[in-house]
Amino acid sequence: MAGRLAGKTVLVTAAGQGIGRAAVLAMAAEGAEVIATDINDRALAELAAGGIATRHLNVRDAAAILALAAEFPATNVLFNCAGLPGGGTILDCSDEDWSFGLDVNLGSMFRMCRAFLPGMIALGGGSVINMASVAGPVTGAQAQFGFCATKAGVVGLTRSVAADFAGRGIRCNAVCPGIVASPSHEARLKAGGDFASALAAQEAAQPMGRAARPEEVAQLVVWLASDESSYTTGTTQIIDGGWSNL
Ligand SMILES: NC(=O)c1ccc[n+]([C@@H]2O[C@H](COP(=O)([O-])OP(=O)(O)OC[C@H]3O[C@@H](n4cnc5c(N)ncnc54)[C@H](O)[C@@H]3O)[C@@H](O)[C@H]2O)c1
Repeated sequence: MAGRLAGKTVLVTAAGQGIGRAAVLAMAAEGAEVIATDINDRALAELAAGGIATRHLNVRDAAAILALAAEFPATNVLFNCAGLPGGGTILDCSDEDWSFGLDVNLGSMFRMCRAFLPGMIALGGGSVINMASVAGPVTGAQAQFGFCATKAGVVGLTRSVAADFAGRGIRCNAVCPGIVASPSHEARLKAGGDFASALAAQEAAQPMGRAARPEEVAQLVVWLASDESSYTTGTTQIIDGGWSNL
């Protein structure tokens, strides 16, 4: 079934690779007008070569976010995908690490939602999709302190926006993946020195024996962007191959 997002304008952050890129391609395939944003201009150029509209956007830049919201006031769907890992325990986390992680993972969602919600309200509704994780919002995870803390904050922000704007046609949901085989995930495993062993150990800990593909998470994003999810708001959508429940 194609055309599930026909007539919708969608804006995606961190669209250059991984889940963001997969979501851009999946939503465009369903007929959406997609604006893909990232700080990686080379990755954006590849998307542009495939006919996707692109804009350079650093989600830490409040002025640039406001300018983008003014450029695309008729945005129906906002996919806030930007987020970075924060490794180590609380004892490893410096003040600078804490501020940086909070700003990228949670501050970005605050700035993006605040900038784009007025346009959605004027349109009579919209769908905001915020990238969280099972690590933090659903379950604990060792040596991911900054990541867990900020992603739990994403769920609080999501519920708050959902509660405040449900009566104005705006839905807001969080996506909570387990492990996703994205470029940064691969880089993290390689950084340990023995990629094959690290991958095997991680896969062995998964009920399905593997990580998710970005395209699998993208299909959940398509559904949340579409009118098929019209009665779904304020939720944390777990997509982790059973990791946190089994
Ligand atoms: N990969 C996983 O296992 C996993 C699991 C749970 C949640 N997530 C979340 O999914 C999202 C995407 O992760 P991924 O692993 O698919 O992608 P990734 O980490 O491979 O790519 C991240 C993208 O973000 C961009 N980026 C970095 N800083 C930015 C900034 N300041 N402004 C705009 N863009 C910026 C990068 O250029 C890159 O294109 C993140 O929020 C991440 O926390 C990932």
